[in-house]
Amino acid sequence: MESINKSKQDAEKLAAAKEAVKFIKDNDVVGLGTGTTATFAIKELAKRMQEGLKIRAAASSIKTEELAISYGIPILKLETLNSIDISIDGADEFTTSLNLIKGGGGALFREKIIASLSKNAIIITDSSKKVSKLGAFTVPVEVIPLALQYVFNQIEKLHGQGILREKEGKKFLTDNGNYIVDVDFGLIDNPKELAFALNQIDGLLAHGLFIGLTSKVIMAKGDEILTFE
Ligand code: 5RP
Repeated sequence: MESINKSKQDAEKLAAAKEAVKFIKDNDVVGLGTGTTATFAIKELAKRMQEGLKIRAAASSIKTEELAISYGIPILKLETLNSIDISIDGADEFTTSLNLIKGGGGALFREKIIASLSKNAIIITDSSKKVSKLGAFTVPVEVIPLALQYVFNQIEKLHGQGILREKEGKKFLTDNGNYIVDVDFGLIDNPKELAFALNQIDGLLAHGLFIGLTSKVIMAKGDEILTFE
């Protein structure tokens, strides 16, 4: 992962967001991601709506829903949707084979449902998010509270070192009322195999490995826009 300064990073996030919202068409149902990069896209989408674009959206977190509503974006209930035309979200890491780590903001479960429902799942990033192997960023997993110790034990069997996420000295709670454990697996040789193993753990609601769920990644690097698909 390349490190870049925050203003350059923000400029790249904005450039990728501007590029991605060009793909949204009238009457689309749009999946809205969570995080600082997705926020740039939501603001750009709101601008296009002021120019006449008509869409409805589904939000991947309470924060995103509140932001979208504040910009006048109509929000549909996720549980009513059979499909989403296009979604735009960020990522914590991606490889050019379109595998991702997500969940830095703790919204991974709803983000995964949105990505799974999406016909066109677009990920937007700055240039610091591109890696040759996933795993420098820890893999967030959402855990149903009563299964916490069990899940820790299972993760250890997969050679992961988990840390319970905290915010302001308290256990971090997701929008679904669950915990997040951030797991260090080291650099991940086979993300698909690890994702499969994590899927087998009862009480682990979702993990931040997004495998085969992305249509394209739009990454800005300086003045350049690079698309991986
Ligand atoms: C939230 C996410 C975000 O997309 C990811 O953490 C990237 O965040 P940011 O755009 O703020 O760098 O998965 O759960």
